[in-house]
Amino acid sequence: MIQSAMLAEKNKCSSGLVCASLLHDYGHFILDDPDQLVNKKEDGKHEDVAYLYLKKYFKKSVVEPIKIHVKAKRYLARNKKYFNILSQASKVSLHLQGGVMSEEEAEKFEHEKYFDDAIKLRKFDEAAKKTGIKMKDINDYKNLLNSNLL
Ligand SMILES: [Fe+2]
Repeated sequence: MIQSAMLAEKNKCSSGLVCASLLHDYGHFILDDPDQLVNKKEDGKHEDVAYLYLKKYFKKSVVEPIKIHVKAKRYLARNKKYFNILSQASKVSLHLQGGVMSEEEAEKFEHEKYFDDAIKLRKFDEAAKKTGIKMKDINDYKNLLNSNLL
């Protein structure tokens, strides 16, 4: 999540999108054991869990892209090249999350207000799997988080 935020900063994204990137998988901290859900072949809907919690505190520009970041993955997975770069765990969860989007769903999704931000967030998420890079600390984001509160 920190790496995703670092990528959003590097790409000069809005403060809201940097914050969304930083918090996008917050739902995993709230759900008891998301991996167990995957093992049970259930989707924990971590994007909804995060959205419902974070929307009490953060601006729409933060929580709306988070809410649809799984949809963005389902949308992007229509592209074979993108699908192939997904991790094995992400391919398994994609199936549980409803699989690759249909053309009809995709067209509807493109009209959502936070479509562009959700796609960017998802791409940062995919690229944020590097090891051995210099990481920022969560405390470095205190001001950013504060400035995006309601
Ligand atoms: Fe996620």
